[in-house]
Amino acid sequence: MDFTMDRPHRLLASLLLGIFLLPAPLFAAEAGLGERLVKEQCVTCHKFEGEPESKFNLKGPDLMWGGNKYQRPWLIRWLTGKEENLYPNGYRWDKGTGPQPHVVLSQEGAESVADYFEKNLLDPRIKKSFVDLSTLTEMEAAFGAEIYKKFSCLGCHQIKEDGQKIGGPISVTLYDAGNRYNLDWWSRFAENPQDFTPHSGEYLADLSMLGARYIIGYLMILGVEDFKYFEPWKTDHFKKADSKRGATVYKEYCTQCHGAKGEGDGPGAAGLEPKPAVHAKMALSQFPEDYLYNVIYYGGKSVGKSPNMPDWGLTIPPQGIADLIAYLRETFKGDAGAEAAPTATAKAQTGDCPQPRKTKKVSSILFNKKNPLKPTPPNLEAGKKLFHKTAKPMACELCHGKKGDGRGPGGAGVTPKPRNFTCQETMNGVPDGQLYGIIKKGSPGTAMPAFMNLKDKEIWQLVLYLREFAK
Ligand code: HEC
Ligand code: HEC
Ligand code: HEC
Ligand code: HEC
Repeated sequence: MDFTMDRPHRLLASLLLGIFLLPAPLFAAEAGLGERLVKEQCVTCHKFEGEPESKFNLKGPDLMWGGNKYQRPWLIRWLTGKEENLYPNGYRWDKGTGPQPHVVLSQEGAESVADYFEKNLLDPRIKKSFVDLSTLTEMEAAFGAEIYKKFSCLGCHQIKEDGQKIGGPISVTLYDAGNRYNLDWWSRFAENPQDFTPHSGEYLADLSMLGARYIIGYLMILGVEDFKYFEPWKTDHFKKADSKRGATVYKEYCTQCHGAKGEGDGPGAAGLEPKPAVHAKMALSQFPEDYLYNVIYYGGKSVGKSPNMPDWGLTIPPQGIADLIAYLRETFKGDAGAEAAPTATAKAQTGDCPQPRKTKKVSSILFNKKNPLKPTPPNLEAGKKLFHKTAKPMACELCHGKKGDGRGPGGAGVTPKPRNFTCQETMNGVPDGQLYGIIKKGSPGTAMPAFMNLKDKEIWQLVLYLREFAK
């Protein structure tokens, strides 16, 4: 190198360099920030290339697929120190150090690392997911929630219930999964976790494609506020529904159990307990479309009823289901509304009391539960709204009546009758835990559905409100 150059020469030289080279290095310097951070800092704990291996050989999770795995806003929040630790016991729980604070980058640093990830850390195994979240229904997410518990996910990954963290703290928390994961990455991971985190303690669940759709969809809504569920009953199929076509579908698929006229006397009925519903006595005209859709599409078990009422979703195409529902609602109007009509003659007509009650006792864990809430005005107001309007799959008043006397139109003609909550003699003997349990699980073999989507708090608010009727 020549150190003898005088000042003007050096200036000229740097100017020339500037003119010809400056734009390029400037660019490179900007694009290089992310790369530099990764190569200088992150590689001490994370792997960015090569094969995945057991976490027990690693300091931090593998990031070879970093460009596929995260939703960018989450990644930026994580890197700028705005997220909680993912591993409640520390990533390497075996070291017993507990969760450690993570490296924090500036906003600019985080953005450029995210750029670097998106350009360089793409895993060719990851394809477009087979799950289309725009068609995920609330019922499917509820099935996903069930799978989450049935298939031990809760044993190792925490979620939140009523704001509380629950579940085993072994691996990542998933209560915010819907804001963190990229759907395509998570779907591919679910296919075989060993392809990403081998020999690390994880588990492969035995799921059908549908089950996989439910659990994948469920995780993608965890932590997402106001997720917009697909509502099939609001689609064009329902606008174009034709009850004549529906009558044909009914004949082809339903009469075998429910009978030609909906009397519940098809050839299949003889061997079934509970018996197929007697549509002819039900005010299906009053049943909300979403409820009928769910019972028919996802089967009796989806609302806590007999699994002998099949789930028709894979068999009958969407238009057929819409036609069928139009037919049911047009044809079955209940017992001429005698019981359903608002009672002009007041007291005498407000339902049986004492009311015969053969409701099964719920499990003793549920039975012994105490209502953790107090009958404050906000709690009663919340219970009231659920009872009369918002409870899904159906508002309670449809069967239990506007007055809580068990005489709603949806209950007309069903046996046993919906509970008459105004009747002290019957209600006083029934503890809160029993009411809670029946609302949560339904009363199998009766019209009382399981309200699986209600949060615990909402069920207790309902129980508080029900008690008001007998006061
Ligand atoms: C001292 C070791 C260490 C360094 C350095 C480090 N990380 Fe981490 N990183 C971890 C650990 C441990 C976790 C798991 C965090 C937890 O407990 O939740 C983690 C988690 C992550 C995650 C989430 C991983 C997942 O999917 O679960 C990302 C993304 C990440 N780090 C990126 C980076 C980047 C980018 C850098 C460099 C700027 C970096 N890390 C530097 C140790 C480190
Ligand atoms: C026996 C414990 C265990 C069970 C049960 C389990 N997992 Fe995991 N899971 C793990 C471990 C271990 C990992 C690897 C990540 C780590 O902890 O190092 C993992 C990884 C994951 C990841 C990716 C985490 C990430 O960000 O890299 C997801 C998502 C996940 N599991 C979901 C589930 C679901 C859904 C179920 C239920 C079907 C389930 N897991 C059941 C232990 C478990
Ligand atoms: C294999 C016999 C069987 C077939 C076929 C069948 N169902 Fe059912 N269905 C049942 C049984 C059993 C019940 C009663 C479930 C209970 O009370 O637990 C029922 C109940 C119902 C209910 C009432 C749900 C409620 O809230 O009480 C509706 C509506 C219904 N079925 C519609 C249909 C339609 C529409 C079809 C044809 C697509 C159909 N079912 C075909 C057995 C069947
Ligand atoms: C489709 C009709 C229907 C709807 C909708 C309905 N119920 Fe019921 N409910 C019944 C029937 C029928 C019974 C009687 C069940 C029995 O005797 O086992 C019942 C019983 C009950 C019981 C009595 C439990 C007991 O042990 O005595 C409670 C509590 C109850 N329902 C609460 C509710 C609440 C709260 C809602 C709304 C979130 C609701 N029900 C919606 C039909 C319905």
